[in-house]
Amino acid sequence: GTTLGASAAEKGRYFGAAVAAHKLSDATYVGILNREFNSVTPENEMKWDATEPSQGQFTFANADRIVNHARANGMQVRGHALAWHSQQPGWAQNLSGSALRQAMVNHVTQVATYYRGKIHSWDVVNEAFADGGSGARRDSNLQRTGNDWIEVAFRAARAADPTAKLCYNDYNTDDWSHAKTQAVYNMVRDFKARGVPIDCVGLQSHFNSASPYPGNYRTTLSSFAALGVDVQITELDIEGSGDSQATAYRNVANDCLAVARCTGITVWGIRDTDSWRASGTPLLFDGSGNKKPAYTATLDALNGG
Ligand code: G3I
Repeated sequence: GTTLGASAAEKGRYFGAAVAAHKLSDATYVGILNREFNSVTPENEMKWDATEPSQGQFTFANADRIVNHARANGMQVRGHALAWHSQQPGWAQNLSGSALRQAMVNHVTQVATYYRGKIHSWDVVNEAFADGGSGARRDSNLQRTGNDWIEVAFRAARAADPTAKLCYNDYNTDDWSHAKTQAVYNMVRDFKARGVPIDCVGLQSHFNSASPYPGNYRTTLSSFAALGVDVQITELDIEGSGDSQATAYRNVANDCLAVARCTGITVWGIRDTDSWRASGTPLLFDGSGNKKPAYTATLDALNGG
């Protein structure tokens, strides 16, 4: 293939990008998006604060702009994210206990129902585990509603949209030796054993000097896959430049191709200037939209080079 999306498709996979609705009027941005990518993830537009700014009042206009663009151009959509401790509207931040639990379930149900049939995969729960060596759940208002909040969210999502793949998504879960990775693994194993509806694990894979691409990444991908779930690389970006950045991107693509159940890769933005990282050059296109060495390395890897 000559583009990321086409080359990934030849391998039975997708190649996606995080997209911001307000950039869909930028011709350079849309030109690259339509040429290179066959999957999109709304970067912020499907989050709780964006979709339910007042309790019970749902607003999907910005998310719809992205979903409609995707559908008109034959792209899949990854939904992001139904239940998360961050980016909650103020009213939810002020809830606790059964009122918060009920609001969370209603939110998952309403959003997943609205997009029923249009979402390839949902990040049902995002970033629920703590960093560091504890392997514990992250403390949050949602966690304080009871340890079963994650499986409750997954069951609500399944009931609302039975055909979407339901993912657990997190960061710092790339290195197989990390306690956080093992904790997520144990949760997924437990969910599979007990019939909690989970189909996929998202590895965000935000790599930088503090958390670089780990040499055991392929082991992480294949270990999750062996539990009977798909694995998706959901928010890839790699700080750096030149050959070393290109090599890391190549390694990620090769690792995904080596694991049958690694079904797709999403980069978290298109141009370096689109990145959430205030400084740095972590993406595949420079600020002018030119292909970087990291782009060429990724495309080569997808083409088996
Ligand atoms: O839309 C408002 C705007 O009205 C306001 O004037 C402006 C001033 O701060 O803020 C704008 O909202 C910002 C929003 O991005 C849209 O640009 C928020 O402040 C800002 O916090 C938000 O950042 C997003 C961040 O998630 C929020 O947690 C980033 O764009 C987005 O890339 C980032 O994505 C996360 C994933 O969802 C989960 N994994 C990690 C990843 C990177 O942090």
